[in-house]
Amino acid sequence: MSNKETKNKLISLQVFRWDPEKDKKPYVSNYSVDLSKCGPMVLDALLHIKNEQDASLTLRRSCREGICGSCAMNIDGNNTLACIKRIDTSAKEMKIYPLPHMFVVKDLVPDLSNFYAQHKSIQPWLQSDHSDSTKEQYQSKEDRAKLDGLYECILCACCSTSCPSYWWNSDKYLGPAVLLQAYRWIMDSRDKATKDRLKFLEDPFKLYRCHTILNCTRSCPKNLNPGKAIAGIKRQITLLT
Ligand code: SF4
Ligand code: SF4
Ligand code: FES
Repeated sequence: MSNKETKNKLISLQVFRWDPEKDKKPYVSNYSVDLSKCGPMVLDALLHIKNEQDASLTLRRSCREGICGSCAMNIDGNNTLACIKRIDTSAKEMKIYPLPHMFVVKDLVPDLSNFYAQHKSIQPWLQSDHSDSTKEQYQSKEDRAKLDGLYECILCACCSTSCPSYWWNSDKYLGPAVLLQAYRWIMDSRDKATKDRLKFLEDPFKLYRCHTILNCTRSCPKNLNPGKAIAGIKRQITLLT
């Protein structure tokens, strides 16, 4: 939409607020934003609010181009990245909440400590017997192609926080994001820890709490398919001797 078209068009942003050190309970702040005065994305509107109306509004962001994963939040009921989500110019209001079913650090900032600890638990690095770091470690084009749809994950947590199994068992179930990351290393032809990785995942909670509801795949802002990756891990486990 051009500046002319957005002139004086106001939208109401209803934003979840909570400062655990100050507020007895969460509440919603209503901000009116003139779309002719900010960029087209939801993150633009939030930063406009923070800069012009209320500096106390707290959110995470870094890259502003869908690469870092820090601006993940729930916008009008869907988990997505605020920096690549367009403001709905046909709407009078939009509702903005933190990623669901997570502890909140403040306002739109969820506590991702458990999520990152789970990511660490799958040992997300290459484990090879290639000792000479000065020499290229060969990977065929065909083997490299097996990582497509996996390596692009930015760990935004949109999928895990849309998964009902993760909501109820996030202390034990690894969730779609971490399982997709695990599958990325399982499928890497250069990695030699495949068997150990699969044995680690073969667990009624870590992996098998996935009931193929596929909320995860629907919510991924990078159009990845964590549900398919989880099915891939289960298939690889059946091939273990
Ligand atoms: S397929 Fe369903 S249960 Fe499995 S990770 Fe995705 S949303 Fe969760
Ligand atoms: S799979 Fe998609 S939604 Fe899940 S963490 Fe990765 S990029 Fe985010
Ligand atoms: S700010 Fe980096 S993904 Fe949105």
